[in-house]
Amino acid sequence: EKGGYDYFMLKEIAEQPKAVADTLLGRVDASGSLTLDEVRIAPGALREVDKVVVVACGTAFHAGLIAKYAIEHWTRIPCEVELASEFRYRDPILDAQTLVIAISQSGETMDTLMALRHAREQGAKVLAVCNTNGSTIPRESDAVLYTHAGPEVAVASTKAFLTQLVACYLVALYLGQVRGTKWGDEIRAVVRDLSRIAEDVEQVLETMEPVRELARSLASKNTVLFLGRHVGYPVALEGALKLKELAYMHAEGFAAGELKHGPIALIEEDLPVVVVVPSPKGRSVLHDKIVSNIQEIRARGARTIVIAEEGDETVVPYADHLIRIPATPVLLQPLVATVPLQVFACELATARGNEVDQPRNLAKSVTVE
Ligand code: F6R
Repeated sequence: EKGGYDYFMLKEIAEQPKAVADTLLGRVDASGSLTLDEVRIAPGALREVDKVVVVACGTAFHAGLIAKYAIEHWTRIPCEVELASEFRYRDPILDAQTLVIAISQSGETMDTLMALRHAREQGAKVLAVCNTNGSTIPRESDAVLYTHAGPEVAVASTKAFLTQLVACYLVALYLGQVRGTKWGDEIRAVVRDLSRIAEDVEQVLETMEPVRELARSLASKNTVLFLGRHVGYPVALEGALKLKELAYMHAEGFAAGELKHGPIALIEEDLPVVVVVPSPKGRSVLHDKIVSNIQEIRARGARTIVIAEEGDETVVPYADHLIRIPATPVLLQPLVATVPLQVFACELATARGNEVDQPRNLAKSVTVE
């Protein structure tokens, strides 16, 4: 049932191109417009939405953090992202014009369920992004957009995460389409890019051997740091979470701009630091700032592991290890940048003799608050 792989996690990492393609299937037409008929919230109600709040836990929360960039950019609706376990305890401001998006692979996470119940009690509309048909979270929501990752068995979430991103992009683009923002042309172009992104994920998977080798060489380390900016920041958080869960290592993700406000004090000789470099196009200011960050930490002894787009030559002199990913539109980069981090964590876990599919102390579905 592991399809020839040693672990479910490896199988599920390999299934990501298909999971991504399946999640897009039937939702995008040839002209680049979206048909999300299954989202049974009337377009009129979607036009009234004046705030989006995403609630989720763990990896799904990281998908939500990325969704915020897409939603705010393509719809101009303010979007908050909150850990489901914190949400209802802060007396959040919700009303009938609030769209709450609850993201959950299992559909059974109690923290997320309690958050959405609270939101509905306050009159908000809830859209679930979920991978499990008929589970509790979609049943209790006003609408659901299913991710089509197929069953995810390994405790550490991989293909579900990529499909959550796809679903969130679809929601953001659909909201933009329904509301007719000024980004119409860009939305159509991104929809077309999304249709090709599964091939990019496949391409990343084909080039992972050096990442596995690098992971094995770091098996005796205690700490790995992850840096990113913009959508690369949640990718850094996700890379760190995977490493904690699987390799039981101290791993932390930081927004690269925060380095100078504290974390740079952690940098010491030969400390592995993974840096997710934004696309050099579009957000070029951020790109240049991250390149300076790489120089700064390297000058202080860090071993830099740089994830950068093909063709980005500026990083070459400062990368002790360079991991290439295909160039994508700025907001879609997490779909390709996360994959090497999953492979990295899985291989490190194996090298440390850990149980990859069943990490200690964790359960696949957390049905207690
Ligand atoms: C991380 C992981 C967890 C889950 C979290 C939410 O690899 O698996 O952090 O993402 O427990 O679970 P769902 O998505 O089922 O609500």
